[in-house]
Amino acid sequence: MLRVVVLLILSACTYGNDLLIQNIPGRAGMTLNGTWNYIVDPYENGFYNYRYIPFDSTSNPTTSQGYFVNQKPAHKSERIEYDFDKSDRINVPGDWNYQKEKLYYYEGTVWYKKSFDYQKSQADHRVFLTFGAANYQTDVYVNAQKLGAHKGGFTPFHYEITDILKEKDNFVVVKVDNKRHQDEVPTVNTDWWNFGGITRDVTLVEMPSTFISDYFIQLEKGSKNRIKGYIQLNGPNKAGQAVTLEISGTRLKQKFKTDNRGRAVVDVSVKKLKLWSPDDPFLYDVSLSTDEEIVHDQIGFRTIATKGQNILLNGESIFLRGISIHEENPIRGGRAYSMDDARLLLGWAKELGCNYVRLAHYPHNENMVRLADEMGILVWEENPVYWTISWENKMTYATAQQQLSELISRDKNRASVIIWSMANETPVSQARMEFLVNLRTHALSMDDTRLISAALEVHGEGEGGLTRKISDPFAEYVDVLSFNQYVGWYDGLPDKCDQINWAIDQNKPVIISEFGGGALQGLHGDSLTIWTEEFQEYLYEESIEMLRRIPQLRGATPWILADFHSPRRVLPGIQDGWNRKGLIGDTGAKKKAFYVLQNFYLEIAKEFK
Ligand code: GCU
Repeated sequence: MLRVVVLLILSACTYGNDLLIQNIPGRAGMTLNGTWNYIVDPYENGFYNYRYIPFDSTSNPTTSQGYFVNQKPAHKSERIEYDFDKSDRINVPGDWNYQKEKLYYYEGTVWYKKSFDYQKSQADHRVFLTFGAANYQTDVYVNAQKLGAHKGGFTPFHYEITDILKEKDNFVVVKVDNKRHQDEVPTVNTDWWNFGGITRDVTLVEMPSTFISDYFIQLEKGSKNRIKGYIQLNGPNKAGQAVTLEISGTRLKQKFKTDNRGRAVVDVSVKKLKLWSPDDPFLYDVSLSTDEEIVHDQIGFRTIATKGQNILLNGESIFLRGISIHEENPIRGGRAYSMDDARLLLGWAKELGCNYVRLAHYPHNENMVRLADEMGILVWEENPVYWTISWENKMTYATAQQQLSELISRDKNRASVIIWSMANETPVSQARMEFLVNLRTHALSMDDTRLISAALEVHGEGEGGLTRKISDPFAEYVDVLSFNQYVGWYDGLPDKCDQINWAIDQNKPVIISEFGGGALQGLHGDSLTIWTEEFQEYLYEESIEMLRRIPQLRGATPWILADFHSPRRVLPGIQDGWNRKGLIGDTGAKKKAFYVLQNFYLEIAKEFK
């Protein structure tokens, strides 16, 4: 008898990624990190039949050929042409490029499978399957049932699996496809490696039937003691529920009642709130509780604003002594994902004298912002709207907005995060303006407490184009003007810095979001021999002198903390697949320019608070 495996195809909206749970690290549950089986599937043979119809579509209701079924032969004559349990294994989290040599350049689909048992601690509890991120398009199945699909390589997605879960012999199958596409975000051309895979933590979290799914607890914009936000419940009894907010070390312990949407609006004043700052990164233990649960989070409170040319943290003008960072551990190689990786990268930033980092060009893993909270490092977070995005495509905009929403949802309670960046180096056009202005409007609708920026376009005027201005019309919409400039690297040699006249006429703070040049760590010569540490050192000296002439200068994030992988960088013996603009090489050794920037930050720290 034909073994019919009837797939209960549940529409994505039933189990879709319509719910992002706040503070996964603070929830009860079980990790699914570890070794998973995987199958490389460049022709997506496990997803489409030979007529290119998806196995999991309703037009193809019965099949055992879809890899997500994880089918085993029921008898000796049954033909099943895949077997996860006999396939190779790979670690999750972690990109496949660095774990499997054959997948170093691979761009396509890889299927992952993990079997697990799970016993709920209470029968009426609910269970969610959560992913920190997977790059780029992900289809998720548990026990052969489709939970949903997610796009975006750097933001979380969560699915409820309560009704599917068994106590024994569950299996989760994940299809990850990292192919690049013109209409995706980012688009096909980037200057970073397209690391594919389940690149961040996978965690099961268990919740009461009605639970605290989300909350936003931060100071109201412009206030040093009024906390505004909300607490959101999810579940059958979410309406009219009592929920208590307590901030340890203060007298605040207040009960709220949720409305019929399960939301409690928070609007409380706290006397003598100790403010978070890089010099004193004080975090309160904040607890949110209902009759059924208590959720703890470590939250800092601070104000961030601009006033004329100044950036004010807790009312005081600051200079953002920063550095740009890609999400790579250059020593191990591949995507960074762990708290240890975060300690390495932010430890280097601290050693440089930084009070600020630009997490480029996409949302980094949550460990980075939680550690930045603890270490007192301010953060610029960025949506991967990078270079030549398909500005006219409505789906492209929806994907960009979805990823921005997921970023803000995840990190809205992190005091360290002060800037949401909408884009990087995007060519000016009417369609691009609408795209970015709409993203900004959306960001402010989710969080009006933080600053908005983007790496804007700059142009040269006058003789030889030596007079530089910010001509980008999006400058009108940002709180902080930022731009990347490479005078001395892509634009002449370092001695050209001296000829540049910055004529920035907007009365706003300026952060140089990128400057710098490449050097192979350990290669030495005179200061005009490119790729030597001496050339990079000279370039930094000249760049800093030039940029200090900008009266509105209130920060910089030179490009970049450490060498990183890029398929664009192929110069043999120098680049070999690495972008060499790091101040630290791929062995963790510092280059001479590291100390030029460190000295500048020591000086500027004395001029500012
Ligand atoms: C650009 C871009 C970076 C890139 C850098 C470079 O400004 O923003 O992503 O890596 O320049 O050319 O190294």
